[in-house]
Amino acid sequence: MSTERLRVDLAGRAYDIVVGAGVLAAAGREIAALKRGKRVFIVSDDHVAKHHLPGLKASIESAGLSAQSAVLPPGEATKSFGVLEQLVGSMLDANLERSDLVVALGGGVIGDLAGFAAGIVKRGIDYVQVPTTLLAQVDSSVGGKTAIDVPQGKNLVGLFHQPCLVLADTAALSTLPPREMRAGYAEVLKYGLISDAPFAEWVAAHADAILNKAGPELTRAIVTSCRMKARVVEADEREAGQRALLNLGHTFAHAIEACAGYSGKVLHGEAVAVGCALAFELSERLGLCPGGSASRVRSWLKAAGLPAAISDLPELGTTEDEMIEIMRQDKKASGGKLVFVLARGIGQAFVAKDVDAAAVKTLLAQALKR
Ligand code: NAD
Ligand code: GLY
Repeated sequence: MSTERLRVDLAGRAYDIVVGAGVLAAAGREIAALKRGKRVFIVSDDHVAKHHLPGLKASIESAGLSAQSAVLPPGEATKSFGVLEQLVGSMLDANLERSDLVVALGGGVIGDLAGFAAGIVKRGIDYVQVPTTLLAQVDSSVGGKTAIDVPQGKNLVGLFHQPCLVLADTAALSTLPPREMRAGYAEVLKYGLISDAPFAEWVAAHADAILNKAGPELTRAIVTSCRMKARVVEADEREAGQRALLNLGHTFAHAIEACAGYSGKVLHGEAVAVGCALAFELSERLGLCPGGSASRVRSWLKAAGLPAAISDLPELGTTEDEMIEIMRQDKKASGGKLVFVLARGIGQAFVAKDVDAAAVKTLLAQALKR
């Protein structure tokens, strides 16, 4: 098994990210090496548990630890107060102690929810991320953002709670549906669009290999993405500055997801894909970015089978005014002003405060026309 090991170097809370095929089978050894208590509480969802829970449990038990699990319904609706309450109840019923470990086995939904539950039970239990979607392997499992969704918006209630280990098994992606792979690919491309134009070009040139999960390209894409994310998180753990760059495309994406009702009609990665294309289009229109950048981004997304415009998504049934209202409630918004991550070119993203609402409105009005 060839694996790569990266470090997220946070004082007092540093941890490893292990990436490679077969990492799950070795999870017990990695978890035992953390030298916590004897009990592990695994949180997963039905889809993931069917394929990967027995192997993880066996690996943990063969390392001399005991493993209990809670298997939740799949989907964004699981990131709710109701499910959080049930999960916290199960952890308390299991008498988890502070020295025990929670393991999140799944995509970003399970990682965000289990990380949050671990952060609040007994004022904080350590947890391990075992991400099983491409999106979670390159983004959500690293950096310690945990949250649930509330009627007022997505991810609005949560904690920064860093995992103590991330185990990303590329072989676990073999069971991931192609649409979910494409959604994760959008997040990989996003890293290049933010700060590394050669990486964006490389990702675009190797889209087929990455999406077909064959060869070393997938591992390279994950490792490079995690390395970039680790450096950003080390520099700005709590998003006081440059971490906000990781939200390229997200102001638009969150509004799209809100209008789609978090229903699976539009996946998070799909919304991010369209959001990135719109962020480049807005940057061009504001004269910040050379002409042709947005069409390049759109062509890369389309070549990977991703939506590149709102018109590529199912009907959202919304208006530009409604979308702008949602954007004003974005976590980045400050004093009611619209804040976007924009770009001076591919690989040159920056945070733009107080973006002209009229320019955004015109862009959205055109984008929403069918
Ligand atoms: P997800 O967790 O809903 O997983 C997508 C689907 O794939 C689910 O149906 C799941 O059951 C299934 N699945 C997962 N792994 C599988 C596998 N190996 N084989 C078969 N099926 C599998 O979605 P996601 O895209 O991983 O995550 C999206 C969530 O992540 C959103 O809630 C988003 O807000 C959050 N997120 C968080 C951060 C962060 O920094 N914390 C960053 C980005 C996204
Ligand atoms: N996904 C954005 C972040 O972790 O900051």
